[in-house]
Amino acid sequence: MTSSSLPLDFLGPLRRTHCCGELRASDAGRRAVLMGWVHRRRDLGKLIFIHLRDRTGITQVVFKTDVDEQVHARAELLRNEFVIAVEGPVVLRSPETINTNVETGEVELVAEKLYILNEARTPPFPLEDHVEVSEDSRLKYRFVDLRRPRMQRNIILRHRIAFAVREALNSMGFLEIETPFMTRSTPEGARDYLVPSRLQQGSFYALPQSPQLFKQLLMIAGYDRYFQIVRCFRDEDLRADRQPEFTQIDLEMSFPQQEQIFETIEPLMVRVCEVAGHKVEAPFLRLSYSQAMEQYGSDKPDMRLPPMRPVGDLFPPGQLASGMPLVAIRIPKCGGLSRKERDELKAFGAERNLKVYDDARRLERDFAEPMARVRERVGAEEGDLLMLATAAVPPTGHRPEEEVYTAAGALRLYAGQKYNDRHGLLAPDDFRFLWVTDFPMFEWDPEEQRWNAAHHPFTSVHDEDLDKLSSDPAHCRAKSYDLVLNGIELGSGSIRIHRRDVQARVFEALGFTEEEARRRFGFFLEALEYGTPPHGGIALGLDRLVMILAGESTIRDVIPFPKTAKGTDLMCDAPTPVPERQLRELGITLRRT
Ligand code: AMO
Repeated sequence: MTSSSLPLDFLGPLRRTHCCGELRASDAGRRAVLMGWVHRRRDLGKLIFIHLRDRTGITQVVFKTDVDEQVHARAELLRNEFVIAVEGPVVLRSPETINTNVETGEVELVAEKLYILNEARTPPFPLEDHVEVSEDSRLKYRFVDLRRPRMQRNIILRHRIAFAVREALNSMGFLEIETPFMTRSTPEGARDYLVPSRLQQGSFYALPQSPQLFKQLLMIAGYDRYFQIVRCFRDEDLRADRQPEFTQIDLEMSFPQQEQIFETIEPLMVRVCEVAGHKVEAPFLRLSYSQAMEQYGSDKPDMRLPPMRPVGDLFPPGQLASGMPLVAIRIPKCGGLSRKERDELKAFGAERNLKVYDDARRLERDFAEPMARVRERVGAEEGDLLMLATAAVPPTGHRPEEEVYTAAGALRLYAGQKYNDRHGLLAPDDFRFLWVTDFPMFEWDPEEQRWNAAHHPFTSVHDEDLDKLSSDPAHCRAKSYDLVLNGIELGSGSIRIHRRDVQARVFEALGFTEEEARRRFGFFLEALEYGTPPHGGIALGLDRLVMILAGESTIRDVIPFPKTAKGTDLMCDAPTPVPERQLRELGITLRRT
């Protein structure tokens, strides 16, 4: 400890009259009791100034020898992060000492009494935002990190967003209903976290990857319009926008048109952005999956960069591309990149099987007329970088053209992100929401040599593609949609299958035997037979939403107690081995490898 012999005061009957961010000039002359943390201390001999902090702000407190020598002497003992209470009159500061940086800056509290409620060890890092602190240290001392102004802003914003969501959904007639955490495997495609059962040894609960089946069951049970702000658990590799436990704004409606789901979410997003101080307009743009792929080479396009355009039709056949799409990529303001920088972009493309033509002068010389039309088609302006890209070798997958678009889209984004700092291409407060619709129903898994559900196996197929389920699964479109914001998938949903016979056909297309389907989802299949209404819904990632609106680049900065990329909680040191006795009770023997 910093000072072991410091006598501490009891709080006793003392009551706080104001928070540290509340006092204003109009309070001058009143007495106040403030409580909080010593943020900073300046000792000028006869005067000691303290910035006293709580989550509402900072008030300056002054200790003077001519007010009370003993109190002043005790104030000399104060150090950063001590917890204190002070009592005294609020006084106006002289004009030259007014601090315009804080809202309480016109006043200060003259301390007549000081209660040292607790001392504190020297914090592991300064609490100022501008000080760079290692992530490990921040996570280990999260209780200190959370005191920093930026984290307080983020966590408070998170609360305000969640609260606005509850209010908005409640006003639209949604009911908040809880679903179990201890359940069986749910079908979102990640690994489950398992919880061993003590009473039924050898059996395990799975923590839900989402409340998907329960919310569908709630529709079957007649609770039209459900929502929940709910924790989900997925054992998957972590990234900046993925945590093993995260929060969804999950909702489901009965008898909806897809448009009605969009019309529910759009005002919700407008409101949430407003709460975060940003203005966005609805309705949002809608693009089908195939349009998104063709124009952006991504199912979660960042709309802050211009779209790509297919331009193969403008060139003589076989000249630049042979049989595969030729796309034009325009990156604003990057026309002046050096040879080395362009070569690097070409190498990035080459790694993805792209042949990239970037030499505008040479292209203009060889293809003057087509290039003029390319420039017109992509809206190229003076100073833009223009690249043409096609497949170096024809791809062999089930949707080969898509592979070319995907690679070109990756190049577009790479260039945009790489030169963002220099040219300001991706403004963080430019919020471009977008609906991507009509995803493919299935994705090919080359390792397992089988089709997987692109969303999840309860997603409806387009009415007109129903007959392609077994004959042409690659081109079956799903009634599914994503909400995308600035290149990040914010939410995902679908109109569900409500008929038992259709569900059976989808399982069959996914290669589930009737037996397997029954074993995994039997209870749900049975429920489908008891009067299931058409229904659909969506789940939005709350962490991602707050991250973007707070201008952060990882969801760890908007989650109070997140885990590292390895899934470790550095503060409580979880996960941990458990005592042998506990394992025995659960009937578990560890195999040491
Ligand atoms: P999906 O699996 O697409 O759909 O998840 C919906 C949204 O949840 C967020 N999300 C995550 N956020 C942080 N960390 C993670 N590990 C993580 N995984 C997902 C994303 C994503 O868009 N039951 C369906 C929804 C439905 O069909 O209604 C589902 O869970 O923002």
